[in-house]
Amino acid sequence: AQKIMLDMDPGIDDAAAIAIALTDPQFDVQLLSTVAGNVGVEKTALNALKLVEFFGVQEQVPVAAGAKMPLLKPYEDASYVHGESGMPGWDFPAVTTQPVAQHAVEAMRETLMQSPNQLTLVITGAFTNVALLFRMYPEVKAKVDRLVVMGGSLTGGNMSSVAEFNIYTDPHAAKIVFEAGLPIVMIGLDVTMKALLSYDNIAKLSDVNESGAMLQALLQHYADNEATGKPMHDVNTLFYLAHPEAFTLTNYWVDVITEGPALGATVADVLGSHHDTTNVAVATDIDVPAFNAWFMSEVATFMK
Ligand code: BDR
Ligand code: CA
Repeated sequence: AQKIMLDMDPGIDDAAAIAIALTDPQFDVQLLSTVAGNVGVEKTALNALKLVEFFGVQEQVPVAAGAKMPLLKPYEDASYVHGESGMPGWDFPAVTTQPVAQHAVEAMRETLMQSPNQLTLVITGAFTNVALLFRMYPEVKAKVDRLVVMGGSLTGGNMSSVAEFNIYTDPHAAKIVFEAGLPIVMIGLDVTMKALLSYDNIAKLSDVNESGAMLQALLQHYADNEATGKPMHDVNTLFYLAHPEAFTLTNYWVDVITEGPALGATVADVLGSHHDTTNVAVATDIDVPAFNAWFMSEVATFMK
């Protein structure tokens, strides 16, 4: 199994990613930390607990709550996309467990330092927790083999004409993480807006099992609608870990813009005219039918 740490802001597409990460034996989730993003951090942590309990893995997967707000930029949520709770449409039972007592940054540090092997860090929310982690405890970087992040775009944004939500929410944090000197795979809007989960497949989810019905109910409340389906942004990080061959990656130096009208943009040095090195492998293409087939096959293996 691939040992991973998840840092997220569930969030409806995060929820689908969590469902797969907790269920597919190919993934061994060491820690599920949350951040303020789609909704506030109390809600993202609560949503993480709801999912961990739904899949019955509360003994195995600790949940840690992290940063309440971005490093410098005022916090703006995305409840207009993900609902006030961040996970509307399914009546989860009241949770019986709690996040760990430590702040997510401390929990991440401990998980990494205690791990005999390097771990893969998957980020699908604002980068605040990981930026704080790298600034407070730079020694943990030696325990991270790579980061696979949903964020950014080279081809147009969803918060402005150039900025993607996770980067836009905390651009200063994203800049710290992109410049941390670790291998990064950027799964941005360039591929996640292509790999739509088709409306046909969404309609089938409730026939598969209870988890499929739960995801379908959440997706009905997810205000991210394209002509032929819904973008499952965060799920693509796990699809990448499972099927890297379905992606085209291109290495670039990527700068994060932290001020001005392009705030939150990820700018790739496509011509190589500003940097003689690269810091990010950017996903520039994806096999869309393979994504749909994989997603549906993952749902079919859910334990309930
Ligand atoms: C990203 O923003 C969030 O709303 C989604 O969960 C995803 O992580 C897409 O821009
Ligand atoms: Ca997210």
